Amino acid sequence: MDESKSYAASQALDEVMIGGTVGEVVASENAHFAVGDKVVGQGGWQEYAVVEASQRGVLQKVDTTHIPLSAYLGSVGMPGVTAWYGLTQIIAPKAGETLVVSAASGAVGSVFGQLAKARGCRAVGLAGGPEKCAYVVEELGFDACIDYKQHPDLKSLSRALKEACPEGIDGHFENVGGLILDAVMLRTNAFARIAVCGMIARYNGGALPMANPALILVNRMKIEGFIVSEHMGLWPEALKELGTAVASGKLKYRETVAQGLASAPEAFIGLLKGRNFGKQLVKLI
Ligand SMILES: NC(=O)c1ccc[n+]([C@@H]2O[C@H](COP(=O)([O-])OP(=O)(O)OC[C@H]3O[C@@H](n4cnc5c(N)ncnc54)[C@H](OP(=O)(O)O)[C@@H]3O)[C@@H](O)[C@H]2O)c1
Repeated sequence: MDESKSYAASQALDEVMIGGTVGEVVASENAHFAVGDKVVGQGGWQEYAVVEASQRGVLQKVDTTHIPLSAYLGSVGMPGVTAWYGLTQIIAPKAGETLVVSAASGAVGSVFGQLAKARGCRAVGLAGGPEKCAYVVEELGFDACIDYKQHPDLKSLSRALKEACPEGIDGHFENVGGLILDAVMLRTNAFARIAVCGMIARYNGGALPMANPALILVNRMKIEGFIVSEHMGLWPEALKELGTAVASGKLKYRETVAQGLASAPEAFIGLLKGRNFGKQLVKLI
């Protein structure tokens, strides 16, 4: 949102807050869209959006026969594709490898672990609190989940990772950064791959130094950041797998729904404090 260097343009003042939306067409002057069509787009934080629908990619019609509309903002939308991309294009695991993901109960992390399991990997999550960890293992089917809040220092978190990953870590999907990344790096195997998706621990500002960069060399690691919107060519393949898995009930997800536009700022701030459980949505109307 702010003016610091980023991959996204900063939020302009006095403009509608940007945000992905799903909704229903209430009026149309475009032959491709009819009143009642369910659509996904970037409508922003407002109850109605007027868009130039002939512009490619602005508005996408979606089929809600087997997939709930809201899932197109989560597992069958941008967050799902994000998990899919990091897993298949950066980590590219072999069956039997151990993969770790931070913010494991969230919109992206929950998909990552389930896709990893489906490829025969050991999936280990990190999440904040016993309730989220129980959900990650019991409902999402991860092999283990570490409550990082119980391990506030590097030594303790690294030991917990050693227990959960007895064969070491081959791939890591980073959503958080800081202490979690440092602890994971200590447990990586040679030729480990780290997909850097997010650094939520620093979204409120400040530096997030890496404790042990020499490990990149020692373990011949690949560390690659990515932005999912720069890989639109792969979205159809990802969405096919994700849509099929959600429609058949194989890919599970959870949502936290705030009611009304006025609740959006608080819901957004809640993401940075872990108050959401699964994909944070705001029901506008
Ligand atoms: N690169 C891309 O193209 C791309 C695309 C989409 C999303 N992302 C990134 O992916 C990450 C996950 O996004 P999401 O939408 O799936 O969010 P989410 O995981 O549903 O929600 C955010 C979660 O992050 C955790 N968290 C927040 N502050 C933290 C902190 N200081 N330390 C540790 N954990 C913290 C909390 O979970 P706990 O309670 O478990 O701590 C919170 O629930 C974010 O970093 C996001 O920016 C990147």
